Amino acid sequence: MKQTVLTGIKPTGEIHLGNYIGAIKPALELAKKNDYHTAYFVADYHALTKFHNAEEFKRLSYGIAATWIALGLDPTKAIFYRQSDVPEIFELNWILACFTSKGLMNRAHAYKALVDQNHQNDNDQDFGVNMGLFTYPILMAADILLFQSDIVPVGKDQVQHVEIARDIAESFNHVYGETFKLPTYQIQEDTAVLPGLDGRKMSKSYNNTIPLFVEPRQLQKLINKIQTDSLPPEAPKDPDTSNLFLLYKEFASPSEVQEMRERYLTGIGWGEAKKELFQVINKFIQEPREKYNELMASPEQLDEILLEGAKKAREVCIPLLKEVKRKVGFTI
Ligand code: ADP
Ligand code: TRP
Repeated sequence: MKQTVLTGIKPTGEIHLGNYIGAIKPALELAKKNDYHTAYFVADYHALTKFHNAEEFKRLSYGIAATWIALGLDPTKAIFYRQSDVPEIFELNWILACFTSKGLMNRAHAYKALVDQNHQNDNDQDFGVNMGLFTYPILMAADILLFQSDIVPVGKDQVQHVEIARDIAESFNHVYGETFKLPTYQIQEDTAVLPGLDGRKMSKSYNNTIPLFVEPRQLQKLINKIQTDSLPPEAPKDPDTSNLFLLYKEFASPSEVQEMRERYLTGIGWGEAKKELFQVINKFIQEPREKYNELMASPEQLDEILLEGAKKAREVCIPLLKEVKRKVGFTI
């Protein structure tokens, strides 16, 4: 029996090179292999906890969907859908909410961080907290458990949420007998953490990102902003401590990487290194960028792909939801 790998990306900002290397690229490779059932989705309802501007919300949701497809996700191999197109997730969400103690939610890190911040600012502890944010981990548990997911690849900050999904599954199973599989998280330990323009981890929270699909001129401009030291052009440079080289490695071929390593060791000017970095990233991104722009210009194409994916997703999850409802006492 093939195991199921499931992950969701929340549409809360423009996808950047770090997201690609750390999350999307490994997920695409996994989907290609055929060793697992893969289910990838746009976690749009999760983003509603934060985004209350309809136009922006729509644009970001389509943006995530277009990104996956433009980068080569094959929707015939992976089930690819939008969370909001699968109403069963929300039915399960309520059922699971009734098996989740409030204390468990009090301990969830995103809520706790806001409470801490409110304490520091002398605000009421729940200032700015909506119930969507508070119960966020329950919806995430519904996403995961409804598909009997075995493996959930996530960033480090999401590990606690997968553990909460296990806890909730156990509470339900304890009352009604084995029903939900207990999922395990998988963090991408071996992929690089890409540095951003200021040398810290590239992250939309730090405003230091290189968005994946920027136009070439903007790409070169952003690359020029990457911080370097003040060594003169002819001085030998250590490729292994250079952020430019770290980025270069992720996008160039092995022979290009080897050649560049030697150029660093014998002395390459930072200006030149930045030009070369632009070349490899731009070459890699050219085709996906065209595809991305094409999809964003005709969202009906995206809707078609996503609705087809939701149909498949529902075929997979409806039998389990029925079983769950029967167990809790509904006549269906
Ligand atoms: P951000 O930090 O920009 O808010 P998210 O937290 O939404 O990004 O991360 C989405 C996914 O991308 C996660 O799996 C995360 O591990 C990965 N990721 C984010 N930034 C980087 C980075 N700089 N290098 C590698 N992976 C990253
Ligand atoms: N909460 C995740 C994030 O912020 C996104 C997400 C929602 C998710 N549902 C999920 C990830 C289910 C994995 C599985 O990144």
